Amino acid sequence: IHNVIFSDSNEASIKVAEEMADLIQKKQEAGKKCVLGLATGSSPIRVYEELVRMHKEEGLSFKNVVTFNLDEYLPMEKDNRQSYWYFMHEHLFNHVDIPAENIHIPDGTIAGEKVIEYCIAYDNEIKKNGGLDFQLLGIGRTGHIGFNEPGSHYNSGTRVITLDHITRVDAAPAFLGIDHVPRKAITMGISTVMGAKRIVLLGWGQNKADIIKKTVEGPISAQVPATYLQNHKNCTFVLDTGAGSELT
Ligand code: F6R
Repeated sequence: IHNVIFSDSNEASIKVAEEMADLIQKKQEAGKKCVLGLATGSSPIRVYEELVRMHKEEGLSFKNVVTFNLDEYLPMEKDNRQSYWYFMHEHLFNHVDIPAENIHIPDGTIAGEKVIEYCIAYDNEIKKNGGLDFQLLGIGRTGHIGFNEPGSHYNSGTRVITLDHITRVDAAPAFLGIDHVPRKAITMGISTVMGAKRIVLLGWGQNKADIIKKTVEGPISAQVPATYLQNHKNCTFVLDTGAGSELT
C-alpha cells in the first residue's frame, strides 16, 4: 500500500477524479471500454462531483465507461432514498452520458435462493468485461471494504453478508434509527476487489485514523479485511491529515 496524505480532502478528491478521467480518456483513445468499480458513502462524493464537473465543463465523456458498484443493502428497493442505486444516480449517473446498460449495481430486491446465482453472475459479468480497470474504495470503521466485514475470506466472491453492528450504528442516522438499517447486504467479495488492476482507497477524518493505522501497519487478517490490500501490487490510500494522523 502506498499512502498519499493531503492537507485537504477536497484537493485529494480532485486528484483522484483526475486519475479516473485520464484513464477513461486513455481507454477511449484506444477504442476500449473503461471498467470502473465504484463505492458509495460519504468518502467518494467529492470525487463524483468533480467527475460531473469535468463532464459538463470539459467534455469528459462516459460513453465508454462500464461501472460495477461494490454493494447494496438487502432488502432494498431502487427508488428508496437510502439505496445505493439512488445514491449513484443522484451523485453521478444522472449527470453524465454513461449508457444505462453499462451500469451495474447489486440488486437489493433479489430474494431467496436466486440470490446465490445472481451473485455468481455479477462476478461473471465483471470478468466478461475484462475485469476492473480501477476500483474506488472507502473503508468502514470495522475494516470493511465494500461490505466485506470482519471474518471475510480472502477468496470470497460477490455474496450476501450480515452487516456488522458497528456498520449498522454508523448507518443509523441516514435511516433515522438503527432499527431501520437493513441487517444484510450484497457485496463484491475480497477476491473480486483484489482482481482490480488499480485500487484507490479514500479515507477522510480523524474517526478513520485508527482503522487506517491497523489496515496499513497491522498484520494481514480476516479480522480487518482491508489489510488484504497489503497484498495488492497497485493500491494507493489517499488520506487527509486526520485519517493519516496515527500512521508511523
Ligand atoms: C460503500 C462501501 C463502504 C463504505 C464505507 C465507508 O459502497 O462499500 O465500504 O465505503 O462504509 O463509508 P463512508 O465513506 O460513508 O465513511
